[in-house]
Amino acid sequence: MRDIRYITFIFYLIIPNLFAQEIKLPSNPLAGQIVFEVKKCIECHAISGFGGNIGPDLSRKYYYGSFLELASIIWNHIPQMDRKYRLLKVERPNFTEEEMLNLIGFIYYLRYLGEPGSVSEGKKLLETKGCLNCHQIKGQGKKVGPDFKKIAEYTSPIYMVQAMWNHGPIMQERIKKMGMKYPTLSGKDIVNITVYLRQFTGGNTAIRMSAGNPVNGKILFKEKKCINCHSPKSETSNVGVKLTGIDLKKSVVEIAGLMWNHSPLMLEYMKVKSISWPSFTKNEMADIIAYLYFLGFEDEPGDPIKGESIFEQKGCIRCHESGGKGEAPDLTVMKKFGSPIRMIQLMWNHAPKMEDLILSLNEEWPRLTKTEMQDIYAYLKKVTINK
Ligand code: HEC
Ligand code: HEC
Ligand code: HEC
Ligand code: HEC
Repeated sequence: MRDIRYITFIFYLIIPNLFAQEIKLPSNPLAGQIVFEVKKCIECHAISGFGGNIGPDLSRKYYYGSFLELASIIWNHIPQMDRKYRLLKVERPNFTEEEMLNLIGFIYYLRYLGEPGSVSEGKKLLETKGCLNCHQIKGQGKKVGPDFKKIAEYTSPIYMVQAMWNHGPIMQERIKKMGMKYPTLSGKDIVNITVYLRQFTGGNTAIRMSAGNPVNGKILFKEKKCINCHSPKSETSNVGVKLTGIDLKKSVVEIAGLMWNHSPLMLEYMKVKSISWPSFTKNEMADIIAYLYFLGFEDEPGDPIKGESIFEQKGCIRCHESGGKGEAPDLTVMKKFGSPIRMIQLMWNHAPKMEDLILSLNEEWPRLTKTEMQDIYAYLKKVTINK
């Protein structure tokens, strides 16, 4: 009994780290927007209302899932998409590995950007959350903390949270002293507050959310010592929540809100561990949150044994017979798959020929779920060779 738990525990420690190296994080998730336009996805799909309406608006859905989950959604739609490409005489695009990563990274990222805020909600929140017990705006409120006029000039809600975070310890102390309840923030609260405050600057009211760079964020996660408490690696220092396990598929401000809400306890722990309160400048908070957000991008490792039987069940094996006897190349003699991105890139680029063959054999397009995709990847990764 003990042994099994021990082994499971070791697995839990090792696997996330092994896997972390398979998918490169996109350093600029918005780079995929260019791919999205150049490859003409935009002719059929809108993002927040801009673009074609033949396919669904991709920014509407809550969250599309990990890399292979998104890839499987796209894979399953290939026949319908291809039909439309032909009908509209849009040239069917091919992708390089990098383009595929950027494209899927971009769609994954859409939720991060969140939605616009509401001025009237923001006004209400400043009162209900008790901010005006200490801050002023337009002569309203009290003078314990700084006037909001200064902060209102920041264009992005993320800078607002960054400032709140940086001043967190002092604010917490005052809140305690005044016997107030710690104001928690959820959903779009911060966006609403920012939009309201910006009314008083006479500036541009469009929300410019910083894109955030997950690659930088990963470095900062270490530098700012978050990893001391939130690491899956070392049991002794793992006092924080395992961040891969929680729902971070939220917008940037919602994640910032989570950090804010939990900061009283984090502050306590930091004192115990003699870690000084990390403060953020420039784009740092956006970067670190982009990194947290992308923790869900990487897939869970699949099962190569299940993958082999799915490869049979879905009929892949009938065309991809080993020894090159089938209609399609023997996948086992391919160069080793080092990342799922390459598999998806090749599958997409080869899809038209597969489709023609499938049609001529009067068969159905092999639809795949996320787990099936993960298992197939694990299988192909195992059987392809190191070259
Ligand atoms: C010629 C039109 C067309 C083009 C170009 C096109 N799609 Fe689609 N796409 C569709 C249609 C139609 C659907 C819906 C199919 C269905 O409902 O089965 C769809 C569905 C999807 C879905 C699933 C959406 C959902 O919420 O269920 C995704 C994701 C997607 N496409 C991504 C892309 C990407 C990425 C590109 C560019 C490489 C692209 N599409 C190019 C027509 C197109
Ligand atoms: C109990 C008093 C108190 C409450 C309640 C309070 N704050 Fe503060 N706040 C402060 C103090 C004091 C500072 C300055 C801290 C420092 O000097 O480090 C501050 C700083 C800030 C800053 C940084 C300002 C700057 O110019 O950099 C922001 C932003 C902020 N607060 C937002 C809020 C919001 C939003 C709320 C409501 C959810 C709120 N505060 C509630 C006392 C409070
Ligand atoms: C000294 C230990 C410690 C450090 C350092 C630390 N955290 Fe935490 N963190 C915690 C604890 C403990 C919790 C749970 C707090 C609670 O439940 O209120 C937490 C909660 C969180 C949450 C909320 C998770 C949820 O379940 O909603 C996020 C997000 C987070 N931390 C991010 C960070 C980031 C980013 C950094 C680095 C800037 C950091 N933490 C540094 C201990 C720490
Ligand atoms: C009806 C026949 C057929 C079926 C079924 C089929 N494929 Fe293919 N597949 C092909 C053909 C033909 C090619 C080569 C296309 C080309 O050269 O453009 C190919 C190419 C590929 C490639 C790229 C190989 C390379 O050398 O670059 C991968 C990966 C792949 N298929 C995976 C799969 C998977 C996974 C399945 C099952 C879900 C599957 N195929 C089902 C016919 C098929």
